[in-house]
Amino acid sequence: METAETYAEARPEASAEADGGRERGVYYATTPIFYVNAAPHIGHAYTTTLVDVVTRFHRLRGDDTYFLTGTDEHGEKVAQAADRAGKTPQQYVDGVAAQFRATWDRLGIQYDEFIRTTEERHQKVVREVLQKVYDNGDIFYGEYSGLYCVGAERFVTEKELVDGRCPESDEPPEYRTEANYFFRMEKYRPWLRETLEENPDMIRPERYRNEVLAMLREPIGDLSISRPRKRVPWGIPLPWDDEHVTYVWFDALINYFSALVSKGIEERYWPHVEHFIAKDIVKPHGLFWPIMLKAAGIELYQHLNVHGYWLVNERKMSKSLGNVIRPLDLQKKYGNDAFRYFLLRDMNFGLDASFSETGIAERINSDLANDLGNLLNRTLGMLARYRDGVVPAAHDLEPIDEELKGTFTALPGLVTRRFDDLQFDRALETVMEAVRKANKYVSETAPWELAKDPARSDRLDTVLNTCVEALRCASILLEPVIPAKARELRKQLGIKRAPFDLGSAAQWGLVPAGTRTAPGDPLFPRIDLEALEQAMAEPEPEPLEHKAEITIHDFGQVELRVVTVEKAEPHPNADKLLVLSVRMGPETRTVVSGIREHYQPDDLVGKKLILVANLKPVTLRGVRSEGMILAAEDEGGNLSVATLESDLPDGSEVR
Ligand code: MSP
Repeated sequence: METAETYAEARPEASAEADGGRERGVYYATTPIFYVNAAPHIGHAYTTTLVDVVTRFHRLRGDDTYFLTGTDEHGEKVAQAADRAGKTPQQYVDGVAAQFRATWDRLGIQYDEFIRTTEERHQKVVREVLQKVYDNGDIFYGEYSGLYCVGAERFVTEKELVDGRCPESDEPPEYRTEANYFFRMEKYRPWLRETLEENPDMIRPERYRNEVLAMLREPIGDLSISRPRKRVPWGIPLPWDDEHVTYVWFDALINYFSALVSKGIEERYWPHVEHFIAKDIVKPHGLFWPIMLKAAGIELYQHLNVHGYWLVNERKMSKSLGNVIRPLDLQKKYGNDAFRYFLLRDMNFGLDASFSETGIAERINSDLANDLGNLLNRTLGMLARYRDGVVPAAHDLEPIDEELKGTFTALPGLVTRRFDDLQFDRALETVMEAVRKANKYVSETAPWELAKDPARSDRLDTVLNTCVEALRCASILLEPVIPAKARELRKQLGIKRAPFDLGSAAQWGLVPAGTRTAPGDPLFPRIDLEALEQAMAEPEPEPLEHKAEITIHDFGQVELRVVTVEKAEPHPNADKLLVLSVRMGPETRTVVSGIREHYQPDDLVGKKLILVANLKPVTLRGVRSEGMILAAEDEGGNLSVATLESDLPDGSEVR
């Protein structure tokens, strides 16, 4: 399994020469800052992995790149969760934020900065922005009544509701009246409409731009941006009125800017900001955020990039449905890189995607094991067999070699375009198509035939060299998605030190002749689909329900002893009960036991059983019972009395 160290090593050096001398760009990308009222799931992992891939790709292009993620830690919802966990809000948020960071580290996410809204460096910027907007007259005090959703942390409109529930949190809202501060959002509506008309791809894909434009066709109202501190103490007090704290969105959205300001790098990166979010938070990012930026005199973001949802069995993940998928479980099972590849390859950006484990396994087997892994194995195998594991120099290229070379050297351009168009699945498919073509090339050039004829030795050299070059190019292009495996591939090819940037993926012939290969384990072992399907068909055993923990002292209060059954007969007044007479050393006891449906009285006589000897006597249907016989029962109602494995005298204690 990959470790965080493997990834740390994998960071390629930025090179201004990449992309054929293209001027060095600047790229700043963000994930949403996630709420800390739940542990990270596959949805959070998708956006974060996506931004990790995109920023790795920009680094490969040689861009000056910055990647921000973090946690959203204020608000009622968090305070409630802390309460439920029996912690103070600060203790609670520290714990969950650490869990997010640990998850990202385990998944090899190379963020540059992790911002938490409870940090002073963030709060300071929030206060500054608020003050500026307030001084400009865009914030006023007023009363508001409406439907409030605690889950989404905002007032919702009647129209938005789906079956009476909030579209974002799926919770029913409650009616509230509150005196709050309001942000004059409505005033900016015409401006935002125009801005979106003039910048058709500011919110993309188009469906989400249309969603925001539709919202802008009707009054959007003013935005409540504060809560009374008495009611919601867990927030940032307003700089001009500390009886009120900021409303969660005003606080949260500013993270994208505050993280840069706190490092003094806002001039360098802010003009290039790209936000990545899912469709659930289009309204705050498409409507509130641009207007907040405008009112605060901060430049707008470049793009709001919106993806769909990962669905499980066609449904949204939710705790109550019990279908929440944890990224670390999958990473453990399938390996980090394979999991990352699946996430990127199986979601068409902008649309919802279906998650299934069979989907991951099939994707690994087809693309990673069959196509890529196979090309590497064959190439290394042939090099070992025919050239002592050493890469030969190429000789004159024939058209079939030229064609493969053309396919691979065109990839960086094609893949860049697909990345820029947010077509991540197609970008990967384009690389895999080339890999499949290389496999076909091997079949068509049939090196095993060439090897039989010493006169065709040069030709064999060229074919083998061409395969190595193809793999080298693929390793660069796939590095952002499968960083550890791309490194491993290069290690096995013996080209760890070959140039590593997008520009060199567009060149051919960079592997020096004489390079010694170092074959190792298969990059991506095949997953046994049948075994997987079988394992999934067997229902997960229900977890056992345990009683409250007791100490050894508590257990010591129960007196258990070996007894011998001397007599057993049906209870005179009850069908299900037997009356046993048992000997316990010097004593004899009468015990009423509910085992009549399972044992014939005669079968029990002479048996050694275990008795709870200090149970308070009770009278059962007129017969006094002086203890209880131990027996086990399964879910189907089968019953077995507990006996001794070897003979011990009755009266012996059981501990
Ligand atoms: N805290 C706010 C965001 C503030 S940003 C200034 C929030 N947090 S959240 O924890 O609910 O995260 C929402 C985000 O998690 C989505 O926008 C998306 O990035 C990710 N996803 C949550 N569920 C998802 C899926 N089922 N599928 C894909 N991504 C999902 O909203």
